[in-house]
Amino acid sequence: MATLTVTQNFGKGARDLEVYRSLGGYGSISSRLFDLSQFELIDLVSRSGLRGRGGAGFPTGMKWSFVPRNSGKPVYLVVNADEGEPGTFKDHVLMQEDPHRLIEGMIVCGWALGVRTAYIYVRGEFLPAIETLNAALKQAYAAGLLGKNIGGSGYSLDIYVHRGAGAYICGEETALINSLEGFKGQPRLKPPFPAVSGAFASPTCVNNVETLMALPWILEHGPEAYQALGTPKSGGTKVFSVSGDVKRPGVYEVPMGTPLMELLESPELCQGIVGELKGVIPGGSSSPVLTAEEARKANLDYEALAALKTMLGSGAVVAFNTERSAVGMLTSLTRFYAHESCGQCTPCREGTGYADRIMKTIASGKGREGDLDHMLDLAANFSYTTICPLAIADAWPIENFIGKFRPEFEAEVAKNPDRGSPRVTKDFRPGAFW
Ligand SMILES: Cc1cc2nc3c(=O)[nH]c(=O)nc-3n(C[C@H](O)[C@H](O)[C@H](O)COP(=O)(O)O)c2cc1C
Ligand code: SF4
Repeated sequence: MATLTVTQNFGKGARDLEVYRSLGGYGSISSRLFDLSQFELIDLVSRSGLRGRGGAGFPTGMKWSFVPRNSGKPVYLVVNADEGEPGTFKDHVLMQEDPHRLIEGMIVCGWALGVRTAYIYVRGEFLPAIETLNAALKQAYAAGLLGKNIGGSGYSLDIYVHRGAGAYICGEETALINSLEGFKGQPRLKPPFPAVSGAFASPTCVNNVETLMALPWILEHGPEAYQALGTPKSGGTKVFSVSGDVKRPGVYEVPMGTPLMELLESPELCQGIVGELKGVIPGGSSSPVLTAEEARKANLDYEALAALKTMLGSGAVVAFNTERSAVGMLTSLTRFYAHESCGQCTPCREGTGYADRIMKTIASGKGREGDLDHMLDLAANFSYTTICPLAIADAWPIENFIGKFRPEFEAEVAKNPDRGSPRVTKDFRPGAFW
């Protein structure tokens, strides 16, 4: 049985404080944590190889080292529990199953950065997770694990749960901070980065739920042990949300570097593909899709997936079989990104909407010759010209679905007897096709 560092308490009732403690929970606070200086702790996390599990995979220790101390302003920790990437559903399960592990991880991070106030920004729809978190916080306060002078250490930390309103863009860290402050959830221009000027114009560390939940294990077993679980450049384990055409979809933790097909086919994990595998989206809807042939070569770590020109992202694996239409899948994705664009950058607002309308025409049998190249041209033009990466997150599926499954798209266009006639502007007027 592989070592688990984040999900080991699943199914054991650990949302109750006494159960969590009986399983070794809050061990880092009673013994090791407060003996370490802030610099020692940041160095320890750097040596573990832990990288952000929210999508970008940025080294956690390095991110913490950017947060200035002694700036004269408070330092905030904000947990990103927005979890809006299609295919991703691990974070709310983690919070529901083991909320105290998140609180313990937040105390570890809080001590490293001198945080006195921390927020958990949770997607508003995750009501069971929110209730579980609030109950766990109440227990932790009552036990002296939060609030003033935690465990007699002299360190004080308050944690608040903040409900978001369910916009995908609010998972982007600066949009999340705007939303937390009560403003429109729109990304900010960077720099300044949140580490220097984030929530309430103060130094702020934004970390994903899973990133923080890895910390108690790292403190207990040591950074080298954590690093050794994965590959030299992708340390530790990763929690995957697996959905689509697999026999047993769910949330699975495996060591970094595990072959993708082992996750999908192992009898202890997803138990195999339903039907014949056609492709896999390996890291959430924005990660470039893999064909079945590529999926068979893929390992689940940052470098191996980058070598296949895709990414680990948030660890949302969507497997699909030969019954699924690539045209249908891309039509859903372009609709999603057009709907979720916050609208402040013209290339994203107009480009994602335009791509959505072209896909709708193709899927409804009204595609024209030239539409596919037009889509690719559009995607290239709205990439890297915007404030945040949402536009690129739309461009990658467009480029890869059309690039890897082009005959299917061409066959769809060929259904239109009128496909040779030129496009006219009114074809793409908003509202023309729905
Ligand atoms: C459009 C968009 C949506 C995002 N959604 C999430 C999210 O739901 N959860 C998350 O942790 N990170 C999300 N991110 C990444 C965050 O901006 C940020 O990198 C992350 O929370 C940092 O935490 P980590 O270093 O622990 O991964 C999103 C990024 C973008 C561009
Ligand atoms: S790229 Fe899109 S979602 Fe991101 S800030 Fe610009 S308009 Fe908003």
